Amino acid sequence: MARLIHLSDLHFGAHDDELVAAVEHKVGELKPDLVVISGDFTQRARTEQFREACEFLERLRDGGHEVLGVPGNHDVPLYDVLRRFLSPLTRYRRFIDDSLCPFVELRGVAVLGINTARSLTFKDGRISRHQIDFIRDTFARTPAESVRILVTHHPLFAVPVGDEIERAVGRNESALDAIEEAGVDLLLAGHAHHASVHSASDLVTRAGGALVVQAGTATSTRLREQNQSFNVIDVDDGAIKLTVECWSRDEFRAIDTKRFENRDGTWRILKAEESAH
Ligand SMILES: [Fe+2]
Ligand SMILES: [Fe+2]
Repeated sequence: MARLIHLSDLHFGAHDDELVAAVEHKVGELKPDLVVISGDFTQRARTEQFREACEFLERLRDGGHEVLGVPGNHDVPLYDVLRRFLSPLTRYRRFIDDSLCPFVELRGVAVLGINTARSLTFKDGRISRHQIDFIRDTFARTPAESVRILVTHHPLFAVPVGDEIERAVGRNESALDAIEEAGVDLLLAGHAHHASVHSASDLVTRAGGALVVQAGTATSTRLREQNQSFNVIDVDDGAIKLTVECWSRDEFRAIDTKRFENRDGTWRILKAEESAH
């Protein structure tokens, strides 16, 4: 079995220290094989904010946890125009990770991160043709039986957030083809500060049988209809269990657990009576 913890939208600089400590405590307790962080490490991409995020990552790594991250739109400087266009991700690469397309293979699981944050779009993300080819090529080289997980900051599909719809990343039409061809099983993203899970086939007409998993913000004070939360994902022998740990007064508590099984190439939720067996 492989266990992943999916954190997102930490927003150091607009974060709550109590939540940061609580996340670290939970990570220590849950002992994941990998901590995935789907972007927005900082609030305004300032050096001090990156330093705090870096210290957080160091504490996780010191605790023996492997981490895979991708940048979010907040990790590109907004007001510092020179830096925004000439060296948008220099600080990210210095403090978080030099790689913008990290790849980790665990027992039965392959995880690839892709950067969707751009200088030219303030809030929306984009995926390039080169990145789409890279997704295809990388997953083509992983064992057929591995569960393929793609991590981006921006959701690749338009996802419902309460009564609104969070827009999809730019050029997502070709991304859909790559996801289907590459046999991606799980799409992990953030940005919406709203946790949810959907079958991709319920959201778009073609994207294979992937599950679309959105994480809420783990530690930010900027909320959208939900308290802070993060996801725990257990992959075990062809089944996926997704648990949402939500901030409840003074601790993170598991509020929702769903089980999924792959039937004819499509991940579907198991009904309560099926998951009991
Ligand atoms: Fe965010
Ligand atoms: Fe964002």
